[in-house]
Amino acid sequence: MCGIIGYIGNQKASPILINGLLRLEYRGYDSAGISTIEKNGLSVMKDKGRVQNLYNLDGINDLEGTIGIAHTRWATHGKPSKENSHPHLDNSNSFAVVHNGIIENYNDLRKFLSDNGYIFHSQTDTEVIPNLIHYYYSKDKNNDELKILRAVQSTCKDLKGSFAIQVITKYMPDNMIVIRKDSPLVIGKGNGENYISSDIPAILSFTKDFYLLNDYEFALLSRDKIEFYDMDLNKIKKEVKSIEWSASAADKNGYEDYMLKEIFEQPNAIRETIGSRLPENEPCNFDDLNFSKEFLSKFNKMYIVACGTAMHAGLSGKIAIEKLCNIPVTVDIASEFRYRNPIIDKNTLCIYISQSGETADTIAALKLSKAKGATTLAVSNVIGSSITREADYCIYTHAGPEIAVASTKAYTSQVILLNILALYFAEVLGSVPAEEISKIKKEILALPSKIDEALKSAKSIKKFAKKIYLQKDVFFLGRGVDYNTALEGSLKLKEISYIHSEAYAAGELKHGPIALIENGVTVISIITDENLVEKTISNIQEVITRGANTLVVTNKNLPSNNINTIIEIPDTHVLLSPIVSIIPLQLLSYYISKEKGLDVDKPRNLAKSVTVE
Ligand code: M6R
Repeated sequence: MCGIIGYIGNQKASPILINGLLRLEYRGYDSAGISTIEKNGLSVMKDKGRVQNLYNLDGINDLEGTIGIAHTRWATHGKPSKENSHPHLDNSNSFAVVHNGIIENYNDLRKFLSDNGYIFHSQTDTEVIPNLIHYYYSKDKNNDELKILRAVQSTCKDLKGSFAIQVITKYMPDNMIVIRKDSPLVIGKGNGENYISSDIPAILSFTKDFYLLNDYEFALLSRDKIEFYDMDLNKIKKEVKSIEWSASAADKNGYEDYMLKEIFEQPNAIRETIGSRLPENEPCNFDDLNFSKEFLSKFNKMYIVACGTAMHAGLSGKIAIEKLCNIPVTVDIASEFRYRNPIIDKNTLCIYISQSGETADTIAALKLSKAKGATTLAVSNVIGSSITREADYCIYTHAGPEIAVASTKAYTSQVILLNILALYFAEVLGSVPAEEISKIKKEILALPSKIDEALKSAKSIKKFAKKIYLQKDVFFLGRGVDYNTALEGSLKLKEISYIHSEAYAAGELKHGPIALIENGVTVISIITDENLVEKTISNIQEVITRGANTLVVTNKNLPSNNINTIIEIPDTHVLLSPIVSIIPLQLLSYYISKEKGLDVDKPRNLAKSVTVE
């Protein structure tokens, strides 16, 4: 999704802005631009295409301004073009604005402004913003220092939808204004300089100290001061948050692609996420929750709500909570849940999973369940992200920054954290014998080295990828926990290799999809649940008979049974096996994408953080 960068300091802004945009590239975009405050007014340079192209624009090297805003656009209203790129100026070239999010009532606002003589040069929803600011600014007869803030305030009151907005103006050449509602934006505090970004990794090399804005909070930035205001323009105080991630964690570190680096970082991401949650001979440590038996017992059902890969992690969480706590859990897609009027009340615990913590549908679903009186718990990878601030309770995965659009280490970290959470619930409720709990804990602690072992499949997987990369359709099969892995493996393949793939519960095959199996079609199966080995093997035989080319990922000692390729992974407790069995499938989608010469980290049409509906 769109990315925002801002700089206010004493250095030339343009190289810092472009560099920041390059670090936001992974979010997905189709055009880019910057605006700086120059001696003779506001300059705007923008175009469709890659951020790199900005370096070639005439005059870009002549920019001297030390304050500027920048944007990567992911088209929503209007096709990718220079006119539709941000920053946008008002008709008098006095205000430059970049915006993330969607202004839902922009047609009404456009009409209002057109009726008042304003002309539009783009098809975007954003262009109403600088013009509205200008409208309110010129109507205001008071010339005090809050005049511009008032104009931005009135504008934001008119906006329906979601926004993170940065404004610079020739009327305040030493300041910048930012405000947000439902779209991400962080402020990095430097020494005599300050930074704005859509997310933390993009400016980690400049600062580790951040301010996080809540909805409808403003910041008025100067070089050495940041003042915060609420929507009524009362001054408010904000605490600075220090982030532990290192700047190098957001670099490729010698790997060809971020995705490959992140796949190989999984042993450590899991280690960090387990952290101190499993103290020896003691109950799981969730002092951030501290739930009593009485509190947990009131929940007669749970929901796990998320999107995409995070939702797939939720499916493993469901199996763990149901098995260990005997509480029914429904997993729901956030964009469905939010419009379904779900049956939840004060006796429901709703768990929201989001790597970025900024996914618009997940945040909206969370707000809905809060309004219905449910207790909400967020699981996120980003400290201070929107979802963590909205939820009643919050726990973190510690996967480190995930840059590649295709989620890998965040997924396995979510699955492990949900399993530890289920163990914690079970301990508090006393729903599982202690021996069973300590058996699972032991297996959890052994996971990092088992993932290391599974990563050794890379060579054989690469070979298999070379054989199948030109396929048009691929099928994934599994039962129980392995069905969840099939869903996630299939999503990975679609996302970065653009191969059509379907995941099926293996037992469903004969109810329809088997009609699609013909000579040469690739069918990938996962077998890790010992109770279901025979059943899945039978389903695999059904596709082999019909000419399928088969790969099986398994931690069981399978007879070859005419299966073309078997990838062996280490054995573990069945609840944890999705964390190990997904590794070869992540590698497979990676190597297929490379074989096809695609951009692994920035697949077409996708964004890392989906901040619009
Ligand atoms: O940041 P989130 O975890 O909320 O993101 C949810 C999905 O958009 C995300 O998992 C998406 O499916 C990934 N691209 C999958 O690789």
